[in-house]
Amino acid sequence: MATAKAHTNIALVKYWGKENQELIIPQTDSLSLTLNEFYTTTTVNFDDQLTSDQVYIDKQLLDQQDSKKVVHILNLVRKLSGINYFAKVDSTNHVPTAAGLASSASAFAALAGAASSAAGLKLSSRDLSRLARRGSGSATRSIYGGLVEWQKGTDDQSSFAKPILEDVDFPIEMLAVLVNTKKKKISSRSGMQSSVATSPYYDAWRKVVAQDMTAIKEAIKAKDIDLIGHIAEENALRMHALTLSADPGFTYFNAETLTIIKAVQDLRNNGINCYYTMDAGPNVKVIYDRMNREKIVTKLSNIIGHDRLVVSQPGPGIKIWNE
Ligand code: PMV
Repeated sequence: MATAKAHTNIALVKYWGKENQELIIPQTDSLSLTLNEFYTTTTVNFDDQLTSDQVYIDKQLLDQQDSKKVVHILNLVRKLSGINYFAKVDSTNHVPTAAGLASSASAFAALAGAASSAAGLKLSSRDLSRLARRGSGSATRSIYGGLVEWQKGTDDQSSFAKPILEDVDFPIEMLAVLVNTKKKKISSRSGMQSSVATSPYYDAWRKVVAQDMTAIKEAIKAKDIDLIGHIAEENALRMHALTLSADPGFTYFNAETLTIIKAVQDLRNNGINCYYTMDAGPNVKVIYDRMNREKIVTKLSNIIGHDRLVVSQPGPGIKIWNE
């Protein structure tokens, strides 16, 4: 039996498209910031008394269909370790529920850590990252803290994350703005798939990412939060242009998303530097220097309410306990 705690991450240069669906090899590199406020804790116990895998998420037992991706990781771990027992998986998300903030990154990183350790495997961080990748692409990066790069690689061996700066020693912060949504969202899996298959801009996106990866690493070296924020904002807009230009076109933005984007632009026009990014949902994440936090929070509280704002600092890498 083992427990792992992994934090979620938000991409500053996005992953949006797979080269290999089965192995989750991406089309491009990507780069993210791990956050300390949002995490998943998962315990895995391989038990010879069990007659099937049992998956609990936030104390709810999942049915067979909903457990599929978790069982996929357990099967990989059984194959690697030679263990043939079924497992009980108990996972708790410390991510605001129903807010549509992605928890798959922290969830599959924690699952990879707990399952491999419970099976007696002593995987390196690199191999843990490769295993997490098989559950969800963004989970590849949640093995490490701070600023993390996922090198696309060409196959299962060569596609893994590596830390760029684990202990972030400059005052970058991220504010999650929890925009409400009632509409069922399009999964990142199908959203990116249709973008790759149908957007006429997909080739340009590959070039954009290559340039942004080089530029953002320079900006990180220079500890230039404004430049990091600017690159992240442009990159997010270009990712979302792939959804608008797919056939059929779609968007993750809603009216509130646009209201928040406008507020960020207003702040900037008034000399308070901050930048936005969005993922496969309507929430906005704002990037800024800690010294601007109060002004940004005050402005956005007036628009959307204080209870829908969560300030986060850079967070740590995965921790695993054997019990
Ligand atoms: O890991 P997935 O399949 O949920 O995809 C994540 C996609 C984005 O969050 C939009 C971008 C990223 O790099 O995390």
